[in-house]
Order: sequence, then structure tokens, then C-alpha cells
Amino acid sequence: MSSTDLRGRDFLKLLDFTTEEILYLVDLAASLKAAKKAGVPHRYCEGKNIALIFEKTSTRTRCAFEVAAHDLGMQATYLDPNASQIGKKESIADTARVLAGMFDGIEYRGYGQEIVEELAQYSKVPVWNGLTNEFHPTQMLADLLTIREHFGKIAGVRLSYYGDARYNTADSLMVMGAKTGMHITLCAPADYMPDPALVEQCREIAAQTGGSITLTTDPMEGARGADVLYTDVWVSMGEPMQAWAERIEEMRPYQVCSAFMEAAAENAIFMHCLPAFHDQGTGIGREIFEKFGLAELEVTDEVFESEASVVFQEAENRMHTIKAVMAATLSAEPIEV
Ligand code: CP
Ligand code: NVA
Repeated sequence: MSSTDLRGRDFLKLLDFTTEEILYLVDLAASLKAAKKAGVPHRYCEGKNIALIFEKTSTRTRCAFEVAAHDLGMQATYLDPNASQIGKKESIADTARVLAGMFDGIEYRGYGQEIVEELAQYSKVPVWNGLTNEFHPTQMLADLLTIREHFGKIAGVRLSYYGDARYNTADSLMVMGAKTGMHITLCAPADYMPDPALVEQCREIAAQTGGSITLTTDPMEGARGADVLYTDVWVSMGEPMQAWAERIEEMRPYQVCSAFMEAAAENAIFMHCLPAFHDQGTGIGREIFEKFGLAELEVTDEVFESEASVVFQEAENRMHTIKAVMAATLSAEPIEV
């Protein structure tokens, strides 16, 4: 049994955490998941209250915070940006001080990373990043738990990401892999590669953990021998609809398809943070098909629906890992795992 004391900490990006702290959160999530499945109560935060600020839409993250809060004995208040004063009539600094006077923790999903960092600076209670343009750290904990459930390990696993490597998911995967000793390959068009300063920082971290970071424009190079093929939407929340035309042109060769899965390791899995455009079951999917004639976008329906796809397990793990973050930062005593 061991415990790590994260009480009172913010959860803004994985760069702020040590390898041990990240792995502790994964262990805690696994233990909370087992407790939930066994029907064992785990009300570590009884009587507390949390605020959920969403300036962008969400299914998984919002539901994960709400269900996890309830399981931990807490009450959650959802703040819809259209129905609150945030950013329009009240600054982030003032909002942080108002909410910290009423709540025990604050989740924020929105645009620039600097907004969630400022919120945390002015808040005396923990602030958790539910996605910014730059980082999506709670997604990474769910991905680590899913990878460990599948391979029984994290260090040494080879993960290749396909798509826009300048954005939150790819950048977070790079940090996640560097911190935990994974081999991360980002496969993207040359104009969609991550900030060189972040790549350099991740390579320095990876040099300490035995991991590696590879960038390539060749999709097959990424697929060969990979344990995990991972993709995300080609156009992210907050980007204009006009971006689709150019993005489809650029990203088409990076659509995760059966040929990539066949080139990957024998027991390779497919992951996606979701939501995904893999068929015409969405309004945007149908619109894209009508305009551009492309029926599937970042992943083919065949791969999405295949045995190798663990996307719904990954989605469920959002709840167990977000619960771990809240329990670790809000519980009265450090929790042993
Ligand atoms: N993966 C993820 O963050 O999903 P939502 O946008 O539905 O929260
Ligand atoms: N890159 C995506 C991730 C969604 C979970 C977006 O920001 O929309």
C-alpha cells in the first residue's frame, strides 16, 4: 500500500506532475473502479460542493464529473457560459474568488490554457482542467488506465497518433508518454506538427523515463509495430466550420484504416478520445458527406467498430479517473492504494 499526497493541488496539465504522481492517480482510479463495480461505497468527499464551468460543449467530461462527484458524496453545479457572467460581465480572477468562496473545487473547460491557469491562480480551492485548446489532462489519465488494463503496463508501450498534432489531444499524449516512458509517434502533415519548444521539453523528460517522441509525416511509419493507434477529430471545438475544407484535404492520408491496423503490432488497439466521425450518424458527418463526398473522417467505421477498438472502455474510464483526481485533491486524508 502506498499513498501520494495531492490534497489541495490543481490539475491543470500533466507537465505539473511527477511520473509517480501520475501513476498514483491511475492506481487510485483502478481501485475506485473496482470499488464501484463491487458496490463498495467510496464517499471520500462527503458534503462537499463543486462547480463545473463549460465554455465548450461536452458529453463525457461533464457526465464523468457529475457521476464521480455523486459517488464521492458531493453535489455538482453546472455553469452554462450562456447563463453565467463569466468572461462577459465578470473577469476570470473575480469569478475564481467568488466560486472559491462557495465551492470546494472548480472544473473549467474552455479556450486558452492561460484562462484555466489564471482561474487556479485566483482560486483558493483546487481547479481541474476539463479541456483547453492546449491540453486535455483528464483524458490522458483515462487513456493511461485503458492502456494499462489492456497491456498490463504503460512504460514501453508504443502509441501512434494521427491527425492535428498541434492541438490538445496530441500535445497531451506527447506529455503523457514522455512522463510515463512510452514511445509516442505523432503522424501529421508538416503544417500540423506541435510547437517545437513543447517537443523539446517532452524529449528531455522522455530521456529520463526511457520514452521517446517521434514526429513523422509518413502514416505507415507510425503504424508499423505500434501497440496503439489513436486519433481525434480533424477540426476541434472552437475552430470555424470553414476549416473543414482544408482539413479534409490535408488529413485524408491520415485517416486510421484497416491497412494501418494490419501494419501495427499483432494485438494493437484503436483509441479515440471521442466524439468521432466514423459514419454518417451525426449532423456534421452528413454535412461533410454532402459537401465533400467523404463518408468517414478520422477513422473508418470498420476500425471504429472492430474488436481492436477500446473506445467505449476508454470513455467509461473518464469517470473513474476524474473521480481519482477529485478524491486525491479534495479528500481529508491521502488515500492509500
Ligand atoms: N473526450 C471528451 O472530452 O469528450 P467530451 O467532449 O464529450 O467531454
Ligand atoms: N481536439 C478535440 C478533443 C475533444 C475531446 C477538441 O478540442 O474538440
